[in-house]
Amino acid sequence: MFNILTLNKISASGLANFDAEKFCCADSFDAPDAIIVRSAAMHDMEFSSNLLAVARAGAGVNNIPIDRCTENGICVFNTPGANANAVKELVICSLFLASRKIVAGSKWCDTLKGNGDGVSKLVEKGKGNFVGPEIFGKTLGVAGLGAIGIKVANAAKALGMTVIGYDPFISDAAKAALDPEITVTAELDDIFASADYITLHAPLNDSTRGMIGKENLAKCKDGIRVLNFSRGELVDNKDIIEALASGKCAAYVTDFPTDEQLGTDGVIAIPHLGASTPEAEENCAVMAVCQLSDYLLNGNIKNSVNFPAVTLEKSAKLRITAVTNGDIAESIEKALSEQGIKVVAKASAVKKATGYAIFDTEDEITDEAIETLKAVDGVCAIRII
Ligand code: MLT
Repeated sequence: MFNILTLNKISASGLANFDAEKFCCADSFDAPDAIIVRSAAMHDMEFSSNLLAVARAGAGVNNIPIDRCTENGICVFNTPGANANAVKELVICSLFLASRKIVAGSKWCDTLKGNGDGVSKLVEKGKGNFVGPEIFGKTLGVAGLGAIGIKVANAAKALGMTVIGYDPFISDAAKAALDPEITVTAELDDIFASADYITLHAPLNDSTRGMIGKENLAKCKDGIRVLNFSRGELVDNKDIIEALASGKCAAYVTDFPTDEQLGTDGVIAIPHLGASTPEAEENCAVMAVCQLSDYLLNGNIKNSVNFPAVTLEKSAKLRITAVTNGDIAESIEKALSEQGIKVVAKASAVKKATGYAIFDTEDEITDEAIETLKAVDGVCAIRII
């Protein structure tokens, strides 16, 4: 039985995909075999020695200490694309929020309470304060063409926008999924030069932190509207507030508001609702559960952010998996053969410096053989399934 610790509330219908005879889920375990997390910060969390995997029910993994997980042989999964439609819908909604002064206008309407039959007259008199442009014919810059960026780009194009997508690492499959009239660039500056609206869909890392800051805002058109449904730190807090005050930026819609941004003119603050739909929560949980189950029961890896993708149909009685430093699958197979263990099927791959290998065998694997395998230079963890 594997014990699965759930941090945050994870969709119950998603968790129901675990085989109840093999997995037990709870929100407290001293030494879980795996963790499913949504947004809980795990950087200060101590990991038990038997922790095998962490699954993030979502795309971003900045709440997980990836390097520490890798050092400890812990496989980290995410669920790319599982919430992409939910985020896309809120981004499209936010194009209108950023344009049409809907939030400010709605708040003003509330102030008219108590005016009885006079409300309609006051509405008509005051509406001129809330005029905002249409998005049709305007240019949208999409920074990041992953699962969400592609959906946003295509939907904006269908609404009559000119779309330019920035992604220096775009895959052929992603390119093929884009409307052919969407321009793709590897230069972020191309977006800054042409966009009326910019929407961010990049992961948070050292090269993307502060990508919307003073220097890049200066390259944008006056009155640029910025949408941030990725991570707050992609936008420099002080610089965006200054840009809003000067009119350089006409609106900043953020799913990750900071204290300083709240109440600032031009900021539309949303409480991290991008993926908060029942559909997305279920999709993410189902994907996280399937990936964790396949890893814990079969040793297969799909959608890991720190381990390579390796899957192999189980073809024998026993399976040996190895987490390694670098590509040492051959050395492990040699050590197995020296122990009289014949490999009938195998698969291996390396991602950055982390290797992972699967070996299937019909032969018995003694404790002594396992110790010998663990002693092979570069082996971090061995599991027999
Ligand atoms: C994500 O990274 O996909 C979102 O932050 C998901 C969420 O809201 O949990």
